[in-house]
Amino acid sequence: MELPPHQPVLLNEVVEHFATEEKGYFIDVTLGYGGHSEAILEKSPNLHLIGIDRDRTAIEFSKKRLSKFGDRVTFYNGAFSEVIPEILEKYQPILGVLADIGVSSLQLDKLERGFSFDSENLDMRMDISQPLTAYDVVNSYPKQDLERILKEYGEIRNYKKLVSEIIKSRPIKSGRELAEIAIKLSKGRRGIHPATQLFQAIRIEVNDELGELMRLLDHLEKLEKAKIGIISFHSLEDKIVKNRFREWAKGCICPAENLRCECGGDNQLGYIVTKKPIEATKEEKERNRRSRSAKLRIFQKS
Ligand SMILES: C[S@@+](CC[C@H](N)C(=O)[O-])C[C@H]1O[C@@H](n2cnc3c(N)ncnc32)[C@H](O)[C@@H]1O
Repeated sequence: MELPPHQPVLLNEVVEHFATEEKGYFIDVTLGYGGHSEAILEKSPNLHLIGIDRDRTAIEFSKKRLSKFGDRVTFYNGAFSEVIPEILEKYQPILGVLADIGVSSLQLDKLERGFSFDSENLDMRMDISQPLTAYDVVNSYPKQDLERILKEYGEIRNYKKLVSEIIKSRPIKSGRELAEIAIKLSKGRRGIHPATQLFQAIRIEVNDELGELMRLLDHLEKLEKAKIGIISFHSLEDKIVKNRFREWAKGCICPAENLRCECGGDNQLGYIVTKKPIEATKEEKERNRRSRSAKLRIFQKS
C-alpha cells in the first residue's frame, strides 16, 4: 500500500475525544487520506464511518486504506454541504462529526493541482470536475471582486496595489507567475512566503471554503446528541466556528434590545467542550508544519 501523502493533525486529541464504545455512525466530512478515520475506526469497534470528500483522488486512496474495515465504511464523493442533508436523514444515531477543513498535503504538493507557488498552471480546485478554476478568478474577475477577495479572504494590507499589478500582468498562466508578482511587491521583506495570503485568498474563492463551512454548520445545527469537532487552519474559519458554537451554547435568544428575557432562556443546543481551541503540542508542530496553525473546537449537542 502507498504511504499516505498526508499526516493528520491533532490525531491523538481527535481520538481522545471521538473514539467510543457506543454503537452508531461517525461522519468524517473531510475524509482526505483517511488518517483520522482509520484511527477512530480502530479504537471504536461499534462505529460505522461515513467518509466524505469532494476530491476523487482522496476517496480512491481512502477506499484502499480503509478496506480492512470492510462494510463498516461508506464513502461519499461530493461537497460536504451538498451531501450532508441526505446523510443526516439516512443514518441514525450519529454520534460524531469531524471536519478537518482546508487542503491536504497531496493537493498542495502535486504541482499539477495548481495550489503551489511553483505550479505550472493555475487551478486550485479540490474537485477537478467543477468549472471555476484559479485561472478564471485571476484572469477574468473584475477589479472590485479581486480587491474584495484579497482584502477579506487574504487579509492583505496592500491589496489594491497587488490587484493592480495582477490586472497589468494578465493573462497569468501559472502559480509561479502569480507568486512572482507578490514576491516583487514584497521587496524582500522577511517572514512567511510573500504569496501565502494571495494564494489562500484565491483558493478560498475557487472552492467557496467559507460558504461551505457556514452551510455545514447550518445543517449540523439540527443534529441532536452528536459531538461536533472542527479543525481550522486560519483565523477566518476559526472565527466562524467560534461564533457559531457560542450561538449554539446561548440559553437566551431574545434580540439584544430586549430589556427582559422573553424566550424562556433554555434554548441552548448543547455545550462547548473546548473553552479554548486545542492546538498541536510543541513536538507535533516540529514534526508537521501544517499543524502549527491548526485549531480544534468541539461542541457537544444535546
Ligand atoms: C486537511 S484534508 C483532510 C485530511 C484527513 N483528515 C486525513 O486524516 O487524511 C482536507 C480534505 O477535505 C476535503 N475538503 C475540503 N473542503 C471540502 C468540502 N467542502 N467538501 C468535501 N470535501 C472537502 C479536501 O479535498 C481534502 O481532501
